[in-house]
Amino acid sequence: MWNTDNPFLNGNYAPWREEGDAYDLEVEGEIPRELTGALYRIGPNPQFKPAGRYHWFDGDGMVHGFLLRDGRAAYRNRYVKSDGLKAEMKYGRALYGGLLDGMMREVPADVPPMKNQANTNIVGYANKLLALMEGGLPTELKPETLETVGMFNFGGKVNGPVTAHPKYDPKNGDLLFFGYSPFPPYTTWYRADKSGNLLETRAIDTGLPVMMHDFVTTDNYAIFFVCPSVFRIENASKGLPVMVWEPQHGTKIGAMHRKSGEIKWFHTDAFYVFHFLNAYEENGSLVIDGCRLASLNMGGNSFGDPAMPWQWTLDLKDGSMRDRQIDDTSSEFPRLDERRAGLKHRYGYFAGGTDKKDRALGFTSVIKRDYQAGKHELQTLGGNKTPGEPVFVPRSASSAEDDGWVLSVWYDRAENSSEMVIQNAQDFAGPPVARVKAPHRVPFGFHGNWVPA
Ligand SMILES: [Fe+2]
Repeated sequence: MWNTDNPFLNGNYAPWREEGDAYDLEVEGEIPRELTGALYRIGPNPQFKPAGRYHWFDGDGMVHGFLLRDGRAAYRNRYVKSDGLKAEMKYGRALYGGLLDGMMREVPADVPPMKNQANTNIVGYANKLLALMEGGLPTELKPETLETVGMFNFGGKVNGPVTAHPKYDPKNGDLLFFGYSPFPPYTTWYRADKSGNLLETRAIDTGLPVMMHDFVTTDNYAIFFVCPSVFRIENASKGLPVMVWEPQHGTKIGAMHRKSGEIKWFHTDAFYVFHFLNAYEENGSLVIDGCRLASLNMGGNSFGDPAMPWQWTLDLKDGSMRDRQIDDTSSEFPRLDERRAGLKHRYGYFAGGTDKKDRALGFTSVIKRDYQAGKHELQTLGGNKTPGEPVFVPRSASSAEDDGWVLSVWYDRAENSSEMVIQNAQDFAGPPVARVKAPHRVPFGFHGNWVPA
């Protein structure tokens, strides 16, 4: 579309700039009747041609909803109409800088100084739909129409950034989350009840202003990985990248006791983690599963070598740490049966299988990893297609850990089309249960969730 060689503006990274509704989508196979609700996906989708050097994380959020009922499917997509995007629409051009060219570009006086793109995750919480981006507050959307309502600040009690990866306490539905900022104390921990009331705020001095994309929680602990992707805000005014990889700091892992607030720190060599699968407590240790990058390159066309499935064990008694690679199939966008959050899990679902010689192809498979048996299964849909994050939906509230479906949106390069694929999680490598054809391609995005009707 726009004449640029930026890979994040070409192919299926290029934005889809029409909003619309489509009903009775073509379905191959049969949509399970138990699936009544919506799979919401979100990703960056710049409305205007970027003024400077564009990074994938910069684009305006666009929500894609696959709405399922009675075995039928509809699709709806809308921009998140942030105040920043509304200002750009008024001026008819991009006004803001991005991660790679100085976040704080000078903007006209009547325009908000920063844009909250709300492009990273979309969650159902307290009967609301929230679009999340870690640099700002959540943005509330209307679930039926995807219309933007505005910022959601927990009744005025949160006034800083909120992670795009909150966790739920499966015991009581509490929302566990944090925010990070380039200014001390760098990190703030929060807990809210399932109705949107903030219960707890605690400042955590991580000692270094880093990009902390995700965290992980157990019954008693919240675990923060301080990986050395350092926020150098002084670079912004020089038009230089504001994230700098500084491996000399190493990575440190903080295990915060949720009640006392006491933090035990574990120090190790530098690595980066965008996403965790889960963590649990076992024999006086914390066991954490996630996806590890050997280093992080924010300036290139990829983020470095593909992420690998990794496990860290923190011994809370003697303060030692050990870690291991789980297997050699690259894996990202880890997802769990959320009923196991903070508890010992058996299964994890990932997008991965990136060809190390041809990384431009991106993910080639969705993966179901069995941590108990130490094996995994792949689904490729016959090859030459690229999946996004797989979302697990249990068959019922009481069904077994992998008794349910895995939903993911795939892109077909040859056809330039997208489909939402429903797999039986217990027949993962077998033919999908249903393939729901989107009315047009859905650009590569980040995260999403199933929200029951
Ligand atoms: Fe993420």
